[in-house]
Amino acid sequence: MKIVVIGGSGLIGSKLVERLGAQGHEAVPASPKTGVNTLTGEGLAEALAGADVVVDVSNSPSFEDTAVLEFFETSTRNLLAAATDAGVGHYVALSVVGSDRLPDSGYLRAKVAQEKLITASGIPYSLVHAT
Ligand SMILES: NC(=O)c1ccc[n+]([C@@H]2O[C@H](COP(=O)([O-])OP(=O)(O)OC[C@H]3O[C@@H](n4cnc5c(N)ncnc54)[C@H](OP(=O)(O)O)[C@@H]3O)[C@@H](O)[C@H]2O)c1
Repeated sequence: MKIVVIGGSGLIGSKLVERLGAQGHEAVPASPKTGVNTLTGEGLAEALAGADVVVDVSNSPSFEDTAVLEFFETSTRNLLAAATDAGVGHYVALSVVGSDRLPDSGYLRAKVAQEKLITASGIPYSLVHAT
């Protein structure tokens, strides 16, 4: 399967790309370092062409309340639109355990916003919650 890993250069993404590759998948890391930017849309359509699955393990460069919300809302909207256009069959995103239980956290409010966009998108999805 072709699996595009958004944030594939990151802490979790780099390990994921390695493991998927070891299992025989075509694991494609996608992030600004490889010319793919979910905020601007740069390189997204090219990266997702022919993809069976997209896994979003990107993260905001800033955890400041407004910035992180803007990152996850904008990047998720762009990524969902590109995944729909490319006919991607499954959308996976990594969130945080108990994301909806700490509304005082700006970071977790942003993760909840990301989850809501995904669940409303109509694309088959899996939301994974990690600690
Ligand atoms: N780490 C944890 O313990 C943990 C626990 C639970 C959930 N999570 C979730 O897992 C995800 C990944 O976390 P992480 O710690 O692995 O993050 P990370 O190490 O900070 O990596 C962030 C990744 O996002 C990419 N990125 C940043 N801006 C981007 C953009 N505009 N377009 C596309 N990609 C962009 C970076 O690409 P460049 O390298 O090219 O800049 C990098 O590959 C997050 O959503 C987080 O909420 C993490």
